[in-house]
Amino acid sequence: MTGAGGLSGRRILVHVCGGIAVVKVPELLTTLRRAGAVVRVTMSPGAQAFIAPMTLQALAGGPVATTLLEPPGAAPAALGPGHGMAHLELGAWAEVQLVVPATADMCARLALGLADEVVGATALACPAPLVVAPAMEAAMWEHPATRAHLATLADRGARVVGPVRGRLASGRDDIGRLAPVEALVLAVTDALKAAPDPGRAPDPSAPPSPLAGALVLVTAGGTREPVDPVRFLGNRSSGRMGLALAVAARRHGAEVVLVTAAPPPPPAPGLRVVEVGTAEEMLAAVRSVLPRARLVLMAAAVADWRVAAPAGEKLRRAGRDRLRLDLVPTPDILRAVVAERPPGCVVVGFAAETGELEGPARAKLRAKGVDLLVANRVVGPDSAMGGEGAGVLIVGADGVGRRVPFGPKSEVAAAILDAAARLAGPPDHG
Ligand code: CTP
Repeated sequence: MTGAGGLSGRRILVHVCGGIAVVKVPELLTTLRRAGAVVRVTMSPGAQAFIAPMTLQALAGGPVATTLLEPPGAAPAALGPGHGMAHLELGAWAEVQLVVPATADMCARLALGLADEVVGATALACPAPLVVAPAMEAAMWEHPATRAHLATLADRGARVVGPVRGRLASGRDDIGRLAPVEALVLAVTDALKAAPDPGRAPDPSAPPSPLAGALVLVTAGGTREPVDPVRFLGNRSSGRMGLALAVAARRHGAEVVLVTAAPPPPPAPGLRVVEVGTAEEMLAAVRSVLPRARLVLMAAAVADWRVAAPAGEKLRRAGRDRLRLDLVPTPDILRAVVAERPPGCVVVGFAAETGELEGPARAKLRAKGVDLLVANRVVGPDSAMGGEGAGVLIVGADGVGRRVPFGPKSEVAAAILDAAARLAGPPDHG
């Protein structure tokens, strides 16, 4: 469905409020869960007058927080550190929070930071990006008080989606109707994309990963080998797979060093970015981190050839009818990593292929001596190079192969990290 891509495994907190548009919430929860999201719900007292918590609990697939002062033991699911208090547990757990339908009252409460019921308190305790989906009568929506509260929320970075024009509770046709479910899902997806993903804490309810606290080294992007001061030999790699792997490694609780020949991502906690240009520079950066690495993911598209002697000045066209470049091999960084890795360090290589995957993947696995080899096609409709998606074949040294179907790179990267983490052993190893 439109806009639902990229929600798999994402932790979405839905704050439900008391307005007639609450009738759309069951469809919203179902859509989010079908997209693979993990959903938790808080309900304001008003929402509970419209719809039974049990209904939303069944659709969300987890307990619903209905009151700020839960009796001991009744707080929603043991999500992690929060001393059993729903608003703290859920606030720390969520990657994004959506208020729907955001009534005039709830918009005011959020703007003022009121925390005397479970929705306001949880939203206040939650540092995740906020998406607000207002729905109310037109007169309330247009009132200067509501306008001011919405402006405050938007100033703080909240995304406001809707309302739209349509039939309202009063029977009038006017502005104030809840935005369509598709628009809500899209806004949540956008908020997640814009969020500083690598900095999010790992899911406190998940068992600790063998990579928690370990150093993971990821290479990304296509190296650029100079021809002269203005030209280079390069390739179509965007660096997105490497970045997705770095994000996935952060989700395992790892410290990540991203050595990238692509434009660097914005700074984020737990992610150190080292920018490089050539294969030689990438090798030097990799060597400086390798002694401490527990896992190396060589996703970079490293040029195999460089110009033996790049020109010191721009090569002129005038006076030539042909230009020959003398190319020499670049260092094979992956081979160096395998040869020089510290004990217990897992190495994952990648194979960029234009034909079939299986044969070359197994051949490269053996030739390079890596623990896992991830093969992807770099031409055609399922090309992994330069785009948003990939489909890969992961082969292990044990001969087992696993296909990850074409999908967003974030999901493919998560599958690769899971496979690598299984090889990494217990957290204190290496
Ligand atoms: N690689 C590397 N150093 C190079 C070339 C490649 O470390 N100079 C790494 C890539 O990062 C990748 C793996 O080796 O993890 C395989 O890269 P690929 O381009 O598919 O294979 P090549 O080794 O270059 O072999 P070929 O070009 O013959 O397919």
